[in-house]
Amino acid sequence: MPDEFFADISDQKTPPTYRFFNGKEWVVSTSGKTTEVHSPIDQSVLGTIQVVTTAEIDAVMESAKTFQSAWEAMPLYQRVKIMHLAADWIRHFADYLIPLLMREIGKITDEAKGEIMRTADLTDYFADEAQSIRGETMESDNFPGFEKGKIALIERVAYGTVVAIAPFNYPVNLSASKIVPALLMGNSVVFKPPTQGTISGLHLVKIFQKAGVPAGVLSCVTGGGGEIGDYLVSHPKADIITFTGSSDTGAAIAQKGGMKPLVFECGGNNPAVIFPDADMSLTVREIIKGGFSYAGQRCTAIKYVLATQGVLDQLMPEIVKEIAQAVHMGDPRSPETKLVGPVISEQAAEHIEQIINEAVSEGAAIVTGGKRNAAYIEPTILTNVKPTMKIVATEVFGPVISFIAVKSMDEAVTMINESRFGLQASVFTKDEGTGIAFARQLNVGTVQINGSPQRGPDHFPFLGVKHSGIGVQGVRYSLEAMSRLRPIILNKPA
Ligand code: G3P
Repeated sequence: MPDEFFADISDQKTPPTYRFFNGKEWVVSTSGKTTEVHSPIDQSVLGTIQVVTTAEIDAVMESAKTFQSAWEAMPLYQRVKIMHLAADWIRHFADYLIPLLMREIGKITDEAKGEIMRTADLTDYFADEAQSIRGETMESDNFPGFEKGKIALIERVAYGTVVAIAPFNYPVNLSASKIVPALLMGNSVVFKPPTQGTISGLHLVKIFQKAGVPAGVLSCVTGGGGEIGDYLVSHPKADIITFTGSSDTGAAIAQKGGMKPLVFECGGNNPAVIFPDADMSLTVREIIKGGFSYAGQRCTAIKYVLATQGVLDQLMPEIVKEIAQAVHMGDPRSPETKLVGPVISEQAAEHIEQIINEAVSEGAAIVTGGKRNAAYIEPTILTNVKPTMKIVATEVFGPVISFIAVKSMDEAVTMINESRFGLQASVFTKDEGTGIAFARQLNVGTVQINGSPQRGPDHFPFLGVKHSGIGVQGVRYSLEAMSRLRPIILNKPA
């Protein structure tokens, strides 16, 4: 049944050549160019993907524009119904999608399962919430100097064509979190999946097609960011860009996108701050889970820990003990593996290894880990780290946590606020008042008290400041971000 359902998306050979979706049909690019997708688990070839041409992008942009108005005119309840059906299909094919995701991006079973089921729930929740997104009316006489007689009908309408660009670490969930609100609000969507993650992304698009998204409204263009990204984001027919990925790519897109509205979730180097009164066993568990799940390849992963030397001395033996219990690096398909599988590619692993070595050459000390084998990086703990070292100053998407001693909590605040990133931070203390007061001093998107950074639950607002993002996501916020206000003023002088 899955083979039949997903038949169009490839030639079904071993390994398959995947097609792209031009909004109407699944086709091979006229470029004749393809890219191989390798599994990070063992470098085996999972398939090849099309590198589309600029003419093919022009064509999907044109159809997106042509078919958008009929889609927006469709009654909302019908779009809602299509999304609920898509959520059902995602659940229905979970057993097929989970191993696919594991092979393509190296997630362990529970994480891959979590991503698929969360995507189905998110799609349902978006569809339900879209029912309550409404415009409003206003009258003029509230403002000094105005009489009654002006009535603003403030409608909420689609932007038009949304360009959605998703990252490799959640190629199903972070694709749906862009596509679903955009479609529900009446936009058409031109979706570019991450190169590594394209195969999972194509399956998701097929589900939306089968659920009833009409021809021309959703397309999926494939190819490397370097090959098609610039053309896509600077396209005159793109009305808004939604992107998750690195801060450097985000900054480049912002420049190339011109005046287009942007919704970005970019890099993070999320700190955890430990007060002396923290519940140490909870803190240790949260740091390890927060730093090492999906091998540290989450924008919300804990990257560094700040505490006074006395607290760090107390914490470190517990951290090492917790790693021995809660972390086991290995093949993500093995039930033995806990938290740390491979990183996304051997090249990424080499980069992480190089940054660890650079930190060590600058004075950092390895407490545990630090070695690489192919795409696998051992869960690594570094001490004596300085905030200027690349291991903390840049976003390192791997299983590495750095520990930095501070003299005071004020120094911790300064360090966090001076970082170019500002996604999330965690504060551990038994005194919630202290936690809240501390949180208020931090210039980051979200502060977690006694918990590790994370995006969910998905209806909470999710945002980054500084180089970590633009705009707000989260169910209601994403629906609002994918639509604009259209005030129409009735002038009816008495
Ligand atoms: O873009 C957010 C992603 O990298 C992390 O999401 O749900 O693991 O906190 P989550």
